[in-house]
Formats: sequence, C-alpha cells, structure tokens
Amino acid sequence: MDPRLIVALDYPSAAPALALADQLRDQCCWFKVGLELYLAEGNAVVRELRHRGYSIFLDLKLHDIPNTVAGAVRSVATIGAELLTIHAAGGPAMLHAAAEAAALAHGPQLLAVTVLTSMDEEQLAAIGIHHSPASQVMHLAETASATGINGFVTSAEEVSALRRRFPNATLVVPGIRPAGAQTADQKRIATPAAALAAGADFLVVGRPITQAPDPAAATHAILEEMQQIAATPA
Ligand code: C5P
Repeated sequence: MDPRLIVALDYPSAAPALALADQLRDQCCWFKVGLELYLAEGNAVVRELRHRGYSIFLDLKLHDIPNTVAGAVRSVATIGAELLTIHAAGGPAMLHAAAEAAALAHGPQLLAVTVLTSMDEEQLAAIGIHHSPASQVMHLAETASATGINGFVTSAEEVSALRRRFPNATLVVPGIRPAGAQTADQKRIATPAAALAAGADFLVVGRPITQAPDPAAATHAILEEMQQIAATPA
C-alpha cells in the first residue's frame, strides 16, 4: 500500500470499476472517477466507493462560465470526494468562483488542471497557444494560485519547476508509464520513480493497471518502483 498511488477507474459502468477497486484493496486506497464512469453512473458510484472505504479523486475537469462551474462544485460538494479537478484555462473569474463555492460548501480540495499530459507543443500550437508546455503550465498554475487554489495536475516534465515555485502545493501527476510500457495517447510521460523524485505528491495510473492482464501484478510492480523514492514527510 502506498497512499501516493491513485488508480484511474476509466470504465463505462460501475461493476468493473468496483471489482477492480476491491481487487486492489490491499494495494491502493485512492481511486479516480473520471468522465467516462461519472457520466455513466453519477454520484452513486462515488458514494459506493466511499462506502467501501476508498478516497476519491473526482476528475470532472470543469470548464464553463463562473456561475455554472460554481454550481457544479456545489452539486458535487456533498458526495465526499476528496479532490476535484477544474481547468485552469477557464480563467481567474471561473477559478475564483469555483474556489469560493468549494470553501462555502465544505467541498473537495480543488486541483487546477494545467496542460493535459496528452498535449505537446504541436497540439498547443494547433489551439493557438505558442508557448512551450512548460511555460504554459507555469502560467496557468500562477493564475490558479492567485485565486487560492493550491493543487495542480501536471505532467512529470513540469513537476520539479512547480515544486520549486509552490513548495506546499498538492501536485498530482498523470501520464505515468512503468519502464517499457505502452504510451498510448499520452505524450509527456514519466516512470513512477522519476515523477516522485521530481516532486509529485500523487501519481495517477490508468491503463497500465486497468488494461494489464493481471492488474494486481501490474500494481505491485508500480508500487515497487515507487518504493525507490521515499515519501516526503507531511
Ligand atoms: O490510462 P492513463 O494512465 O493514461 O490515464 C491517465 C488518467 O489521468 C486518465 O483518466 C486521464 O483522464 C487523466 N488525466 C490526464 N492528464 C491530465 C489530467 C488527468 O491524463 N492532465
């Protein structure tokens, strides 16, 4: 068991998600519910995972006008997720409205998504952003931080710069691939040990576990890699 591992339950229905969570019960205490599972099963699957004792990262990547995002934060505030994502690219007014709503509703800790790990310089240029991923990540993190949000989702490539700039922030890193694994659509990737060494607090791992022939064995291998890097004392 390593509380720094979050397994992404990217499934189309509750049954395989709950089965995987229970299969990994002794290895993992955090699970991520993203759009695929949430849109299929809604709050019920989050409540069921909570009921079974797991901590939940609700990865809804909210991005809309401030009033709508604040309402969305209020709607999910009571289901007991510990972490909730919003897109930093939604801008300061949206981030501020979300932070205020989360605080008033005693909701989850907000994590600002900076630049998706599937985006590289070419993908950014195609949507009109002519900066490197690294400078765009820092820019968006500064924007989110100014609204009081102190947690960021970022790739392992930018995590050490963020750790230096925001020593107390919660840094969550997806795009994790054990040595020799398939990258699929992820571009800015790192091994578990490299991401932790760079300063990540949490690693998000999906397909390397969910699509492994033996998910428990794949999780075990990742946990072994993680053990190379000791947890920083809280
Ligand atoms: O399957 P894989 O390990 O690539 O899954 C990564 C998970 O992390 C997915 O659920 C994806 O939505 C999420 N994620 C990401 N990049 C971000 C934020 C979240 O890949 N910036």
